[in-house]
Amino acid sequence: MTTDGLEGVVVADTQLSDVDGERGRLVIRGHDVESLALAHDFEALCALLWTGALPSAAEHAELRARLGRARMRAFERLPRLGDALDGADGMEGLRASLAHLRASEIDARDVHAELTGAVAVFAAAWARVRRGVAPLAPDPALGHAADYLRMASARGTDPARSRALDAYLVTAADHGMNASTFTARVVASTDSDPVSAVVAGVGALKGPRHGGAPGPVLAMLDAIGSPERAAGWLAAELAAGRRIMGMGHRVYRVRDPRAAVLERAVERLRAAGLRSDRLDLARAVEAVAVASLGERRPERRLAANVEFYTAVILDAIGLAQEQFSPTFAVARVAGWLAHIDEQARGGRLIRPSSRYVGPAPETPVAA
Ligand code: COA
Repeated sequence: MTTDGLEGVVVADTQLSDVDGERGRLVIRGHDVESLALAHDFEALCALLWTGALPSAAEHAELRARLGRARMRAFERLPRLGDALDGADGMEGLRASLAHLRASEIDARDVHAELTGAVAVFAAAWARVRRGVAPLAPDPALGHAADYLRMASARGTDPARSRALDAYLVTAADHGMNASTFTARVVASTDSDPVSAVVAGVGALKGPRHGGAPGPVLAMLDAIGSPERAAGWLAAELAAGRRIMGMGHRVYRVRDPRAAVLERAVERLRAAGLRSDRLDLARAVEAVAVASLGERRPERRLAANVEFYTAVILDAIGLAQEQFSPTFAVARVAGWLAHIDEQARGGRLIRPSSRYVGPAPETPVAA
């Protein structure tokens, strides 16, 4: 019997994260995502994923410096990327840029920082090239989130927006056996190299059923425009057979806990004086979408997923719609790298089977 989409199939034992779809809980190495996202930055989360523990102040400073140096090295590689940064969309640009990295030139003692730094620098450089301006050099003294925002956003950075991006990066860094993590683990299981595994992860993350959803969520909010138009707009989409972006999840049967974390982070931004006109609209659209989807399919509960409020928060901090998926990769690469390690340490070659349903051979099986 085949398990369509491998739903519910357990393919690995992991120490990294646990997704409880019935209760709406995400635990990363023993910590609830809520407690991590609002109190820790991306460096702390990387340390937690890569070493198993939140860092001491000294360890945190050391990792921050390592990521800063890695961003510098990635920036020095930009002239070698040729037209890779001309990719039609950010994920294409990121995939092509990362593919230029030679596994042999990545400092083997610091693969994690090297690749995490490269994803941030290449994603930011793509956005600059797209706007017709030269990429900005990293500032290695800054935290990873602040520096990415400084390099990537047309509006630069400030502490409140950097904190919001940290909350997003922490929230999005790891999430059980999602499609891109599984992809990266499959590549790692063949004893391939981490660059190849990360490039493969980017390929899987690109699709709108995975990391490609937040851009379309923003487009949807803009198309709806005001809460009273939500019901009619959503009904027309569903009648046309289209999915509502940012709704539904393979594992969660309740609201994705990450949606709540990001919603709170946007509220914090507003408290710091930053406007986010789209938060109220998003809340209103979410309520109508949940009700409409519930009426259509009462037995399959569809609620908001992380991408719904990703669109709101990344827009509020000044990133353009086409930067949303690459920014997801800036976060998720930390999780991929932890999973690649875990797979390399103990996992067997991932090689499932398929059931042949094609034509029977012309010659019957010999008796
Ligand atoms: N809008 C409308 N209907 C949806 C839906 C959505 N967002 N998500 C699922 N459904 C419906 C499907 O059409 C399907 O109905 P059917 O059986 O009548 O065809 C049913 O719910 C089950 O969907 P299925 O595709 O089997 O679920 P899945 O577990 O494979 O899909 C997602 C999970 C995330 C791919 C899916 O919910 C989706 O496409 N969401 C929109 C994209 C998105 O937000 N992606 C980001 C994920 S974090």
